[in-house]
Amino acid sequence: MVSISEKTKRLYNEIAPKYNEAFPFHYHPEHRQLFIDQLPANARILDAGCAGGRDTKFFSDLGLRVTGVDFSSGQISEAQSKYPGIDFREADLLNLVQTFPRGEFDGVYTYATLDHILRRDIPRAIRNFNFILKNSGVLLVCTRKGKGVLWTNDSYSVGKKRRFTLIESEELENLLSRNGFEIEYFESFPSVTRANMEFNLALCRKHFDLS
Ligand SMILES: C[S@@+](CC[C@H](N)C(=O)[O-])C[C@H]1O[C@@H](n2cnc3c(N)ncnc32)[C@H](O)[C@@H]1O
Repeated sequence: MVSISEKTKRLYNEIAPKYNEAFPFHYHPEHRQLFIDQLPANARILDAGCAGGRDTKFFSDLGLRVTGVDFSSGQISEAQSKYPGIDFREADLLNLVQTFPRGEFDGVYTYATLDHILRRDIPRAIRNFNFILKNSGVLLVCTRKGKGVLWTNDSYSVGKKRRFTLIESEELENLLSRNGFEIEYFESFPSVTRANMEFNLALCRKHFDLS
C-alpha cells in the first residue's frame, strides 16, 4: 500500500508546474521579513519545503546563504531549472539529520509544509530542526490551524486531493516548547484563498539542545 507521505510526494511531483504558477507571489511577505529581521548578517538558512523555490530565491537575492529542500523531485527540478546557482536538494523533513550536520543553520523557515506530515511524525520534524540549528537559531513555522485532518481539491491539483494535518495553536506551541524552542512571536491569521481557514505562525528560537 502506498503511504500518505508517498502519495503527497507523488502529487507534488505531478502538479509541480501548475502549483508554482498558481503562487508566483507570497501572500504575506511580512512573514518572511519577520524571519529575516532575526537573523545575523550573512546567515546560513534552510527553506524547508521550498517547492519551486520562490522564497529560496528571495532569500538568496538578499545575500543569505540559503539551501532549499523538498521531498518532491518534481518541485526540486523546477526550482533548479528556474534558479540555477541556488543550492536545492531533494530531502524529507523527517530525515534532515542525515542530510545536514548538527548546528549547520542560523535559521530554518518552514512555510505551509509541516501540515503535510502525519500528526504522529510532526514532533520528529521539529526535533530535526532543533538538531540542524545553532544554539539561539531562529525557526519560523506556518501551518494550517484546526482540529483533525483536511482534504482539499484545488484548481491546480489535477483532480486529486491534498491532505493536511490541522494543528491547534496550543498544540503547536506545546510541540515547539517541548522540543527545545522558545516562542518569541505567535499569531493566527485567516487564509487569503479559503473561507473559514486559518493559519498559525510561530517565530521561535532554539533554547536548548535535545541531546
Ligand atoms: C504547500 S507547499 C508550500 C511550498 C512553499 N513553502 C510555499 O510557501 O509556497 C508544501 C511543500 O512541502 C513539500 N513537502 C511536504 N512534505 C514534505 C516532507 N516531509 N519533506 C520535504 N518536503 C515536504 C511538498 O512537496 C511541497 O512542495
